[in-house]
Amino acid sequence: MNAFSFYNPVKLIFGKNQLEKIKEELPKYGKKVLVVYGGGSIKRNGLYDQVMSLLNEMNMEVFELEGVEPNPRLSTAQKGADLCKKEGIEVVLAVGGGSVIDCTKLIVTAAKYDGDAWDLVTRKAFPKDALPFGTVLTLAATGSEMNAGSVITNEVTQEKYGWGSPFNFPKFSILDPVNTFTVPLDQTVYGIVDMMSHMFEQYYHNATNTPVQDEMIEGVLRAVIEAGPKLIKDLENFELRETILFAGTMGLNNFLQMGYNGDWASHDIEHAVSAVYDIPHAGGLAIIFPRWMRHNVKVNPARFAKMATKVFGVNPLDKSTEAVAYEGIERLAEFWASLGAPTTLADYDIDNSKMDLMVEKAMALGELGSFNKLNEADVKAILTACL
Ligand code: NZQ
Ligand code: ZN
Repeated sequence: MNAFSFYNPVKLIFGKNQLEKIKEELPKYGKKVLVVYGGGSIKRNGLYDQVMSLLNEMNMEVFELEGVEPNPRLSTAQKGADLCKKEGIEVVLAVGGGSVIDCTKLIVTAAKYDGDAWDLVTRKAFPKDALPFGTVLTLAATGSEMNAGSVITNEVTQEKYGWGSPFNFPKFSILDPVNTFTVPLDQTVYGIVDMMSHMFEQYYHNATNTPVQDEMIEGVLRAVIEAGPKLIKDLENFELRETILFAGTMGLNNFLQMGYNGDWASHDIEHAVSAVYDIPHAGGLAIIFPRWMRHNVKVNPARFAKMATKVFGVNPLDKSTEAVAYEGIERLAEFWASLGAPTTLADYDIDNSKMDLMVEKAMALGELGSFNKLNEADVKAILTACL
């Protein structure tokens, strides 16, 4: 493996009835709180009322920013940052899924920055300070609750980029599986696809001697593959929600990525697609990832064959390494399709009319990936296979 340093300061508070812990955590950071949330799911399922009543009990001075979009927009984050500056907000509480948390990460850093928030996303400027923030997670998918990443869409320029900073770690994150009971079927499936994709991104690397990391990723993937199909038939099953919630966090809190960097080209390609078409992140991944895999089998067939046998139960007897590798990819595609995930871009009415634009957006920051570096022709071939 490569030399590495590991740092993750997030206090993870996991389990039933843990929401009350905000009474211990939030006051450490101030009295004036901005509560950030999405389009209303927390109002419909009662979580909003629970949070507000706890904040009232604590005599916090509460401000609100509602309406964070799935694929959170720059203008919303800028609005939140401006509000923080104007009102002298001391701490921010994100209540929602990855989009709300990602938006909050830009709000807290932009609140301490004098320029345009987009500068921080595009690395034109680097945060030097930020407001502290905590999260109450409502959807298992991104791992944003325990990592320093954030993905923001500039709706004006149709760009969507991931960015990070040491200030993007939440001070605490509260994860109660019950708060994910109301996640609808399609979003539950997207969450499963997203967390599995994160583990694939990390698994396909070029470092050698990573048996511990391999076993960890393979094990978490097997647990998701076991629980996922049961969960989509039983959305309020506590134990299944608990398993998937924990898997999503472990999938992208850097514990599985010690000693290498992972590939991440599929994510970059997906961000380009959803920048142009505003489709759900994991809907795009379900389409792109199997094509990325097929495009890259020849780079290291044994790596794909290992995934096929250890995670997808492919029997390697009397088969070539490549045949085993391809069979594993087919099993993955079938697994996602069986959950109801989209399988082609046509499922989102996307044709090739904006192919060049999507490729251009994907290549904006240069070659993609590290397991195998992709150029423009590679990206176009992968996206064409997705049509
Ligand atoms: O907006 P509301 O009304 O809350 O509804 C949301 C939204 O419509 C709904 N939802 C969330 N929790 C719910 C619920 N509905 C009912 N009950 C609940 N408990 O679900 C919809 C999707 O929410 P969103 O937050 O967009 O989903 P997700 O957590 O999948 O986040 C997706 C965003 O995260 C980025 C993606 O690109 C995308 O913008 N990512 C962030 C990463 C990170 N920070 O590390 C890594 C990921 O790879 C990903 O790129
Ligand atoms: Zn993702």
